[in-house]
Amino acid sequence: MTEAIPHLESYDESTLDRSFAILADEVAAETAALSDPEAFRLAWLGRKQGRLKLISDAWLKSAPPEARKPLGIRFNQLKQQIEAALDSAVPAAAGKPVQQGIDITLPGTVRAPGIPHPLLKTMQEIVSVFHHLGYSTSTGPQVETDFYNFEALNFPPNHPARDTQDTLVIAGQQTRPARERLLMRTHTSPVQIRTMIAQPPPLRIVIPGKVHRNDAADATHSPIFHQVEGLCVDTNITFSDLKGTLDHAMKALFGTSVKTRFFPSFFPFTEPSADVQISCIFCNGKGCRKCKHSGWIELLGCGMVDPAVFAAVDAQRAEPAYDPARISGFAFGMGVERIAMMQHGISDIGQFYSGDMRFLEQFA
Ligand code: PHE
Repeated sequence: MTEAIPHLESYDESTLDRSFAILADEVAAETAALSDPEAFRLAWLGRKQGRLKLISDAWLKSAPPEARKPLGIRFNQLKQQIEAALDSAVPAAAGKPVQQGIDITLPGTVRAPGIPHPLLKTMQEIVSVFHHLGYSTSTGPQVETDFYNFEALNFPPNHPARDTQDTLVIAGQQTRPARERLLMRTHTSPVQIRTMIAQPPPLRIVIPGKVHRNDAADATHSPIFHQVEGLCVDTNITFSDLKGTLDHAMKALFGTSVKTRFFPSFFPFTEPSADVQISCIFCNGKGCRKCKHSGWIELLGCGMVDPAVFAAVDAQRAEPAYDPARISGFAFGMGVERIAMMQHGISDIGQFYSGDMRFLEQFA
């Protein structure tokens, strides 16, 4: 671009034509090689330093009055030429190639929608099996008192059964009465007590939730894990009801060919108590490494509600409603991690908590 202001020899029409033709050629040459339309616009049409303004100022200053009109007409034409060049350069000005439709062969933008965590999914599945049997959901706090977590469930202070459920306790509680001291709940069973104190029978509830124990983490243990508890209390509830309910639930979760068996066990808050085993889903009961060649896998604890629990509940109620001579019930509790690991063939419990997308994506 010629920055100098060209000299105008005279104001007669032919000189004007020649001089403007030179400027028009300059504009045409720049238009043909236009790469930066904004710079081009500023150079020619800039209000203060634009070439058109500088030249017209210089030429008009010494123009005789009769030359003003022919000069003005020619400046307008030149301006129109510049503006036309800018108009046709608009798509390039936006910095985008001219759009020629959508290329459907290009990979799209994939949005990964969130999914329920595999543990929550299994927990929800278990809960829904019982919802179909008419159970409703109850929940309770993770920071629990000694009373609800242990005492009302027939674990007296210093009873050795407490050793199996060691946990973290909240600091600075020594001055409180033993039953009011706070701890991280070791099971979902305290919600049995809370619900029975709040409501008279009949009762059919499932209690999903997080629990805490002083257990070293390994492939099958985690100090924080999840349980689904169940409680059914009414008149005439028997051990057969318990067996039928859990047999149905196991078939709903693992398939109708699964068999269950009940093994004598001990929990302070149920009498009698049992561990439920299901026929090994990996070898159909033939015996394999997963079932330690027994053909059976232990899955949950259960039993008939101990009358001592009903007594502890009624002692807290304004109106006693749990007379063991009239009322009976069963309870059960299962580990969600254990069931999810069986469902998906997962061998390391730690995978659930690692946040590793490669693991989690498999459940999408
Ligand atoms: N709360 C027991 C545990 O965590 C499981 C259980 C629940 C057993 C209900 C019997 C009845 O080990």
